[in-house]
Amino acid sequence: MKRFPDIRRGPVLLLAILVWVSGLDARERAVEIRSRCYDCHLNPSPPQGTDRGPLIDESVFKASVHGSQRCENCHRSVISLPHEKDLPPVSCTDCHRVDNTVGAPKLRSYREYEQSVHGRLVAEGDPRAPRCQNCHGDHDILKPAESASHVNKLHIASTCGQCHFEVEKAYEASIHGKTLIEGNLAAPVCTDCHGEHDILRPGEEGSSVSRDQVVNTCAVCHEDIVKMKMFGLTTATVESYRESYHGVAYKFGSDATATCIECHGHHKILAPENPASPVNEANIPKTCGQKNCHKGAGPGFAKGKVHVSFEKTPEKYAREGRDRTFAKVFHIVELAFISLTTSVIFGMILYMALDLYDKWVRRKRRWILFLSVTTAPLALTFWIVWKVVLSFIGKLHGG
Ligand code: HEC
Ligand code: HEC
Ligand code: HEC
Ligand code: HEC
Ligand code: HEC
Ligand code: HEC
Ligand code: HEC
Ligand code: HEC
Repeated sequence: MKRFPDIRRGPVLLLAILVWVSGLDARERAVEIRSRCYDCHLNPSPPQGTDRGPLIDESVFKASVHGSQRCENCHRSVISLPHEKDLPPVSCTDCHRVDNTVGAPKLRSYREYEQSVHGRLVAEGDPRAPRCQNCHGDHDILKPAESASHVNKLHIASTCGQCHFEVEKAYEASIHGKTLIEGNLAAPVCTDCHGEHDILRPGEEGSSVSRDQVVNTCAVCHEDIVKMKMFGLTTATVESYRESYHGVAYKFGSDATATCIECHGHHKILAPENPASPVNEANIPKTCGQKNCHKGAGPGFAKGKVHVSFEKTPEKYAREGRDRTFAKVFHIVELAFISLTTSVIFGMILYMALDLYDKWVRRKRRWILFLSVTTAPLALTFWIVWKVVLSFIGKLHGG
């Protein structure tokens, strides 16, 4: 079939040529603009008479994750030269979007930031709240794992502390802060307790430090056997809290009972043997007597252990230097009890096995069969009751 030339191709061709030409223009302009950024902002000896503005450190920029980006990729508002004096701040989310095609990591956390206390304040136009660059830096942005990154674990407290100065000071005086400053990364920084891009106000639902969540947040480490062993600490603190009167009331939703932070504080947490700790023996009456807790609490409150635990290491006892007799007696009673119940249970099982064998062989006395099947649950009940009695004694003693 014969084909006629399609006259619609004419304009299409023309358009393509135009796009190509204007593309050339834009590319040339980009090259020109970039080299001119260098003229003023990177060149220590700029052309005569140039008002060049602040100098940036090229070596720092080149070593950053964005070292291969062009200036105008971030400074999008510079579209012609000379440029305006007051430029709007760089918008990192031009590239750091979940659906970006420029090779920036695609993270859910960009969205989380928008929902966070900081992101919401920025959206409302609050000049005090952190944009991405307030935490990450500008030309010196590195991956978090690099030790010079502003968001590397070792620098997070001072990064947040630009704005939360008082909190930073309290944190640095705490046992957690001191341990981290010594370079031990097992201790928590701000973001271990609060999150990173998803930080919410403590009173908000979903916050990792809300009343609902705070015990779990402390438990991440204080229930971690390996981590606690490194410091001669026990994981029994969390377990004993959960079994305590406070812990049980908390589990059932009581708003009045104590969580970890009512007793220990939150930023300036100290070891109990430190005289400034709210759980130091001398301060216990005041700590327990706070707000609407145990009005008129006397020195008697300090007598027992809050966290009754048997796994405590001897070093820890030595550091505390108190109540060792009780803990030892308690320890012995528990050991005796465990061996007693274990031997009873195993005795029962052995008896049952022998008896069943006996019946298998002789096929008579069916009532014994019945009895032996029921003794196992009986022994178990007995053991549970004892466990409850034991924890009750502990509670009486721990207050
Ligand atoms: C002719 C010299 C010159 C050139 C070329 C130039 N600048 Fe500037 N720039 C300045 C001066 C002067 C200032 C300081 C303005 C002021 O007084 O706040 C400045 C400030 C800035 C600031 C800070 C603005 C603020 O609000 O504080 C940014 C960002 C910037 N320039 C980016 C660029 C980029 C990107 C390029 C290249 C596309 C570029 N500049 C090219 C002279 C120049
Ligand atoms: C990854 C994005 C990014 C790239 C790429 C980038 N900048 Fe910036 N630059 C920033 C941010 C962020 C700031 C802080 C101010 C802000 O938030 O807008 C800044 C600030 C500046 C300032 C003001 C510095 C001051 O001390 O006030 C200048 C000048 C500047 N940039 C020039 C450049 C030049 C020249 C290049 C290219 C060599 C470049 N920037 C590349 C993100 C970038
Ligand atoms: C022009 C696009 C663009 C802009 C704007 C931009 N970035 Fe990036 N960013 C990238 C790309 C691409 C990478 C990946 C670089 C690589 O892996 O080599 C990256 C990587 C990063 C990383 C390292 C991520 C990791 O762990 O691998 C961080 C952190 C980061 N950017 C933060 C920022 C911040 C903060 C801003 C705003 C000041 C910003 N970026 C602006 C494109 C951009
Ligand atoms: C309140 C401080 C803060 C703000 C604001 C913030 N970040 Fe972050 N960001 C962090 C911290 C802390 C980390 C380190 C996480 C880690 O240790 O893995 C991080 C990590 C990152 C990473 C690397 C993630 C990875 O797993 O490699 C990127 C990319 C990033 N942020 C981009 C952004 C962007 C884009 C914004 C703005 C939308 C932003 N951040 C806002 C604190 C912040
Ligand atoms: C650029 C300043 C800035 C930086 C950096 C910053 N914040 Fe904030 N932050 C704020 C402001 C402003 C508020 C709102 C304070 C208010 O309204 O009471 C806030 C609120 C908070 C809140 C809620 C406080 C409350 O009383 O409800 C927490 C928690 C918080 N920030 C933690 C952090 C952590 C953790 C970091 C570091 C990863 C950090 N912030 C970094 C400025 C900052
Ligand atoms: C061991 C966990 C932990 C660490 C580490 C921690 N916080 Fe907190 N933070 C909390 C808890 C829990 C609360 C809520 C207290 C409450 O409900 O009264 C809180 C509350 C806050 C508040 C609200 C105001 C206040 O003081 O109650 C800000 C702001 C804050 N933290 C910032 C930070 C910053 C910045 C750092 C790092 C320097 C940090 N936090 C380190 C657990 C922690
Ligand atoms: C990221 C892990 C981590 C988190 C989260 C954490 N801690 Fe710790 N905590 C530690 C480590 C590690 C030590 C041991 C530091 C040392 O002895 O040098 C410690 C020490 C302590 C001590 C002192 C123990 C002693 O006698 O030496 C107390 C009390 C304490 N933490 C309470 C809390 C409370 C309450 C929370 C929650 C608000 C919490 N911690 C959250 C890791 C954590
Ligand atoms: C009712 C107050 C109270 C509550 C609630 C509480 N503690 Fe304690 N905590 C104390 C006291 C008092 C001590 C001092 C030693 C003792 O009496 O057992 C202590 C000691 C500790 C120690 C040091 C233990 C050691 O071996 O030296 C850690 C760690 C600790 N608590 C963590 C926690 C955590 C985590 C929570 C929450 C799951 C919590 N505490 C809840 C009062 C409390």
